[in-house]
Amino acid sequence: TSPSSPSASTTPAAFHVLGIVGTGAMGRGIAQIAAQAGLTVYLYDQRDGAVAEARDFISGMWARGVQKQRLSAADAEGYGGRLKEAATLSTLAECDIVIEAIVERLDAKQSLFSELETLLSDQAVLATNTSSLSVTAIASACQHPERVIGFHFFNPVPLMKIAEVIPGLRTDPGVVSRVEALGQSMGHFTARTTDTPGFLVNHAGRAYGTEALKVLGECVTDPVTIDRILVDQGGFRMGPFSLLDLTGLDVSHAVMESIYHQYYEEPRFRPSPLTRQRLTAGLLGRKSGAGFYRYVDGKSEVAD
Ligand code: NAI
Repeated sequence: TSPSSPSASTTPAAFHVLGIVGTGAMGRGIAQIAAQAGLTVYLYDQRDGAVAEARDFISGMWARGVQKQRLSAADAEGYGGRLKEAATLSTLAECDIVIEAIVERLDAKQSLFSELETLLSDQAVLATNTSSLSVTAIASACQHPERVIGFHFFNPVPLMKIAEVIPGLRTDPGVVSRVEALGQSMGHFTARTTDTPGFLVNHAGRAYGTEALKVLGECVTDPVTIDRILVDQGGFRMGPFSLLDLTGLDVSHAVMESIYHQYYEEPRFRPSPLTRQRLTAGLLGRKSGAGFYRYVDGKSEVAD
C-alpha cells in the first residue's frame, strides 16, 4: 500500500453531487463528511423511514457540534441544506459519484450497480464501501467496469479519518485519482490497496479478532479482560469484542466468512463457531442492544 496524494501537475476533476445507497451506520457517516466537504448528497435506502432516520442522526451530530461550540449554527444549517432524500434510485441520475453501503452480499451489490449504470451518466463513478468482497467481482456485472472502485471507510466515519481506495483490475487510473482526491477533501487519509480479500485493514487486523475468539472459545478468559489487555497493553483504541459489537455481528460474521472462502478456506482465516451461534441468537452488538456486552440506551456498556 502507499499513501497517496493528487498529482501536482494535473488536479483530478472534483465530484459535486454524491449519491449514497444504504443509509445505515456507514452510509450516514459518509454522507455527513461529504456534506461537510461541500458536496450535495442524495440519500437512498430501500427501507421506508431509513433516510429520515439517517438525516435525524446526522443533524443530531451537527446540533451537538454547535452546542459544544465546535461548529457554527450557520455552518450546521448549510450542511443540512446539502442533504437530500432520494425517494427512488432514479433520483440519483444527476450524481457524478454514488457510494453504496448496503448489505455485504456480492449479488446485492452487483445488481445495484447494474441498475445504477442504466440510470447514471457514462462518466459517473460507482464506489463500493464493501469490507471484504472483491471489487473486481462487483465490477464484473457492469457494462463499464472501469468506473467501479472500492472506497472503504471505517466506523464511525467522521472519527476514523482513513479510507482505503481499492482499484479493481479494470478500474481506470483517472477514477482512482479522483476518488483519492475526494477522500482527502473530506479530511481522510487515503491508503491505496490492491483488490485482495479484506484489502489491508480487514486482512491485517483479522488475526486479533480471530485469536481473541479462539481464546474466548477455549474459556481462557472473558471478553472484558481480553479487550482491556489489548487496549491497555496493546495500544488499541478499542478491543476486539467492543469492535465486533460496534460493527455488528451481521456485518462482521459475513466479512469473516467472505475472507475465509475467498482464500480457499485457508485455516488462519477460519471464522469462529462462536460468532455464528451468537448471530443465530440475535446477539448482534450495539444495534440489537446486546452482543458481547449489553447496551443500555444504546450507550452504556455493561459486562455480560
Ligand atoms: P447497516 O445494516 O447499518 O446499513 C445497511 C443499509 O442498507 C440498511 O439501512 C438497509 O436498509 C440498506 N440496504 C440493504 N440492501 C439495500 C439495497 N439493495 N438497496 C438499498 N438499500 C439497501 O450496514 P453497515 O454497517 O452500514 O454496512 C454497510 C456496508 O458497509 C457493508 O458492505 C459493510 O460490510 C460495510 N462496512 C461496514 C462497517 C461497519 O463497521 N459496520 C465498516 C466498513 C464497511
